[in-house]
Amino acid sequence: MPRPSAPPHAAGHRPKSPAKRSAPCASRHTSPARRTPAELRRSTKTRRHPLPRTLFGSHTQQRLPTSSRTDRITAVLPIKLDIQPAIRTDLGCLYQTDCMAVLPAISDDAIDTIFADPPFNLGKHYGSRVTDNQPVPYYIEWCKEWLQECARVLRPGGSLFVYNLPRWNVVLGHFLAEVGLTFRHWIAIEQKSSLPIQGRLYPSHYSLIYYSKGRPRVFRRIRTPIETCRHCGGEIKDYGGHRKAMHPDGVNLKDVWTDIPPVRHSKFKPSSRHSNSLSTKILERVIEMSTEPGDLILDPFGGSGTTYAVCEQRSRRWIGVEIEDVSPILERLRGSVTNHTNHDIVDSCPELQNDAALMASTPK
Ligand SMILES: C[S@@+](CC[C@H](N)C(=O)[O-])C[C@H]1O[C@@H](n2cnc3c(N)ncnc32)[C@H](O)[C@@H]1O
Repeated sequence: MPRPSAPPHAAGHRPKSPAKRSAPCASRHTSPARRTPAELRRSTKTRRHPLPRTLFGSHTQQRLPTSSRTDRITAVLPIKLDIQPAIRTDLGCLYQTDCMAVLPAISDDAIDTIFADPPFNLGKHYGSRVTDNQPVPYYIEWCKEWLQECARVLRPGGSLFVYNLPRWNVVLGHFLAEVGLTFRHWIAIEQKSSLPIQGRLYPSHYSLIYYSKGRPRVFRRIRTPIETCRHCGGEIKDYGGHRKAMHPDGVNLKDVWTDIPPVRHSKFKPSSRHSNSLSTKILERVIEMSTEPGDLILDPFGGSGTTYAVCEQRSRRWIGVEIEDVSPILERLRGSVTNHTNHDIVDSCPELQNDAALMASTPK
């Protein structure tokens, strides 16, 4: 469905495709998902390098329980709320309500990483509870309200990512600086299926702004494979004659991501949701870059649950909110949606992890 009344900076439309039911995944969840956060942290701290290099591509879809045994997990999540979660797993829980009913119930300084992919105010129909066509000042004020809460619940050293149109993220980034967060990156994510706009440059990226509360507690280097020609397999660049000196795992992840596939094929999204799913590759990067196993991630705009599924696969705890239908999220958490292939490799950076002295010396 086209996005009506797209403002000039809209980077095209999110890809869509006809709904089709995918085959359910047969694999079961792995034992780390059953461990408590403290156990997860302990198991990584005992190694010299908290995490071994992880080949992203080696992670496949997992089938995860959505159990009713939730006392354990809700006990360890820093949230006090009367509403019962609509979905619970051993690692997280999802509330079906307005995110502004949930965010105030989360304790201060409690979340390790926040990822937010809000509606873009492009007139998209999400359901009867969302109006995605607000006057500009109203939309900006609404974003500031939930961002203010996000800044409050983010722990010192935590990271905040907001995925939006450049037009909105320019304003929201300024606000985040005003509330005391530290700018890290403007990540441009190439959008391959955008439409040209009369009198403007061809919009071809979405923006992912990355802020932290002081100096990041966790920042792990991600390497992407050396680019090769898809026809002949030969390497495309000569790296200025320094190819031999390059790391065998690949190049440092850049702040321009041209390798994010559109979510078109039905196997990459729940059958009950036809559009607006992000690629799992974006969430894998965000989560691996900014958290360790057992850390807690918040996504206030659940959509099809991409963030929560990646958290489950990578043994991160999570809190989610979705105001509309949550059945696509349930479907994804049950393992019937395929991840995009991802050949990134993540290094561990021990010097930036759990360094109390560093945190103490960090200006807010
Ligand atoms: C752009 S989509 C998120 C897509 C998601 N990142 C994914 O990969 O599937 C935004 C979602 O936020 C939800 N939403 C809008 N307003 C909300 C609110 N106030 N509280 C909670 N969810 C909201 C919409 O229903 C929609 O599903």
